[in-house]
Amino acid sequence: MAIRVFPSVEESNKALADYFVETGRQAIAARGRFAVALSGGSSPKKLFELLASDYRDQLEWERVDFFWGDERYVPHTDPQSNYLMAKKALLDPLNIQPAHIFAVETDLPPAEAAAAYTRTMQQYFGSQDSLPLDLDLLGLGDNAHTASLFPHTSVLTNDTVSVQALYIEEVQANRITMTAPLLNQARATAFLVYGEGKAEAVRQILEEKRDVQQYPAQLIQPENGNVTWFLDEAAASKLTQK
Ligand code: 6PG
Repeated sequence: MAIRVFPSVEESNKALADYFVETGRQAIAARGRFAVALSGGSSPKKLFELLASDYRDQLEWERVDFFWGDERYVPHTDPQSNYLMAKKALLDPLNIQPAHIFAVETDLPPAEAAAAYTRTMQQYFGSQDSLPLDLDLLGLGDNAHTASLFPHTSVLTNDTVSVQALYIEEVQANRITMTAPLLNQARATAFLVYGEGKAEAVRQILEEKRDVQQYPAQLIQPENGNVTWFLDEAAASKLTQK
């Protein structure tokens, strides 16, 4: 695991954009494509905009396939939609074609949407239980959740390589999320976390071996160990070892 701390969010985003492109080039060279699971929320928006502008000539974007590590159970036109945020910040500016966009079908009932997404990934990878994304981009909530693996939810003990739907009391909404076993098959994992508000969650995840029910992001232990944290100084401010 690598922990990279930067003086500003901008420098962290640039480093992550460099990492994204390098990881993509390696995947394309090895397998002819780059399968990436995007994170949601607000943190990655500037990163996506940076990739779509300063990095538009740095990668064979027509070989990139976009998935989502989790999605809010809302229409694709809803401001809460992780798909919509990525569409505006990254996919449309890069003219990514529909065949390379694997969005969660939130027009289906939640459980069907999750099952359909699992099938989509199985068809894409040609396997029932080996679904190794080339890169997982993940965020971290101030309660130490990642993707939609929220504290004290049933999905935390789901040991299947799959996508699940669940109602989350904490946000009073349905979410669709990849399970930790699926996320942990990724060839590379990058957390993008910034701001003082996340500092305690970052400390808990990186420096305390605590209860995964309380600190779900600790479930992210990629099988190949390749995980990098991209932090600004504010988010890293409570770490004792940097
Ligand atoms: C989501 C995300 C979630 C997010 C964290 C951080 O759908 O909200 O996937 O895991 O990464 O909640 O969100 P912010 O970046 O908005 O702080």
